[in-house]
Amino acid sequence: MNKVGIIGAMELEVETLKEKMTVANIVQKASMDFYEGSLNGVSVVIVRSGVGKVNAGICVQILADLFQVTHIINTGVAGSLNAKIDIGDIVISTDTMYHDVDATVFGYQPGEIPQMGQREFIADAILVELTQTACAEVNPDIHVYPGRIVSGDQFVSDKSVKERLVNVFGGLCTEMEGTAIAQAATLNSIPFVIIRAISDKADESAEIDYPAFERKAAADCAKLVAHVITGLTGTTNN
Ligand code: ADE
Repeated sequence: MNKVGIIGAMELEVETLKEKMTVANIVQKASMDFYEGSLNGVSVVIVRSGVGKVNAGICVQILADLFQVTHIINTGVAGSLNAKIDIGDIVISTDTMYHDVDATVFGYQPGEIPQMGQREFIADAILVELTQTACAEVNPDIHVYPGRIVSGDQFVSDKSVKERLVNVFGGLCTEMEGTAIAQAATLNSIPFVIIRAISDKADESAEIDYPAFERKAAADCAKLVAHVITGLTGTTNN
């Protein structure tokens, strides 16, 4: 049976999902509240991880150990790294990478964690496809872009930092948890996808745009996730 772990870093990224779900149990662990129950007929555990890579990684490990989730979906907002991806659009991870990991002095690639043998964490192809289909059904007016999401413990609001993320990593958008979720999910062999709605352009305009658009972007993304999970019925992971 599927059991989907749904993670948002901030309360506004998970609040609409928590309102919609039927809660059977709330478990507290590592200062996080894990809401176990069902959403649209699917078993879920919904949790606010807190911001950043460490919170995100701990959250995934708890979802794996305590709840034995079969899938992990991360919902939230991100800064666009691509001129054609606008505020309100949605990016679906095909893979993820860290932009703040640097052991290049030892010959590793930018973003590569030493001795891990990989720097990209590949999202589950079924979840990526389900998300694309769901978006066409739920949010037909919103443009969807599958591609690379880059993460780091940094809110990006500087054009030169943004340019580095584009040139060195080729990401479509940037945020602060996705790759830690991807790494922890990969280490636990749990299929994952990161779904992010664009709240800002990750440059100097972000200071104004982010507070103005984060709520709507987060709600659009959460609405999409509620639909994506219904598509899991009938996949090989059932
Ligand atoms: N989340 C939303 N916008 C972001 C940005 N510009 N940088 C990092 N995380 C974000």
